[in-house]
Amino acid sequence: MVVFCNRKCTSVLLMYHFFCVGSNLQRRNFCKSNTSPFCIVVGQVAVMVLENGKRKNPNILVTGTPGTGKTTMCTTLAEATQLCHINIGELVKEKNLHDGWDDELDCYVLNEDLVCDELEDVMEEGGNIVDYHGCDFFPERWFDCVVVLQTDNTILYDRLSRRGYKDSKLSNNIECEIFQVLLEEAKDSYSEEKVIALKSDNIDDISRNVATLTDWVRNWSLPSQS
Ligand SMILES: Nc1ncnc2c1ncn2[C@@H]1O[C@H](COP(=O)(O)OP(=O)(O)OP(=O)(O)O)[C@@H](O)[C@H]1O
Ligand SMILES: [Mg+2]
Repeated sequence: MVVFCNRKCTSVLLMYHFFCVGSNLQRRNFCKSNTSPFCIVVGQVAVMVLENGKRKNPNILVTGTPGTGKTTMCTTLAEATQLCHINIGELVKEKNLHDGWDDELDCYVLNEDLVCDELEDVMEEGGNIVDYHGCDFFPERWFDCVVVLQTDNTILYDRLSRRGYKDSKLSNNIECEIFQVLLEEAKDSYSEEKVIALKSDNIDDISRNVATLTDWVRNWSLPSQS
């Protein structure tokens, strides 16, 4: 279990934010479209946010067993909302935020501290969709909504088989889905009203989930501001 209290914002950090956000440097590392006018707008908005000490756009965490469709849905949701999609798996590879390759699990061993340090500033700004098959090591305060995607076991089995997963990896992931490991992890790590489980079996589910979350983003405001 990681303790995040040492990441509390200090006034020095806020001044640093102010500088970085104003010059739009921070988000460039995370938004795929570096030149997006949204990023500039977000930079300006974030300055206001920092003046108020509150973010103006929500952060969403999308989690779920591998293959449930996180990246597929996040990509569409980011287009619909103009929020910034942060794929943690890609970020870890790109910025070497890991402790090497695990042959048994057949994946990189993510370094939680490095990942959280890397993301702290952009998460403070708000306006991010974080995509990862785990959720217990992020600071709770980062997220306004935690979405857990769930897929029928047979459908998930087919998706993961198509990826060529070896037997042990395939059965581990199917068990993870059967026992709702990610949903339990999310409920243990975030307040219950932030956590929502959404079905992701077919294309219609993606459309419905994106529409639901887009509406939620449009109507979002921090509880203390409403
Ligand atoms: N709701 C859905 N309906 C039909 N196909 C889907 C759906 N969601 C995802 N898929 C398909 O399943 C596969 C896995 O999806 P995706 O890569 O988005 O999963 P993921 O949750 O991001 O996995 P990982 O955790 O390994 O990154 C892709 O081929 C995608 O096209
Ligand atoms: Mg993915």
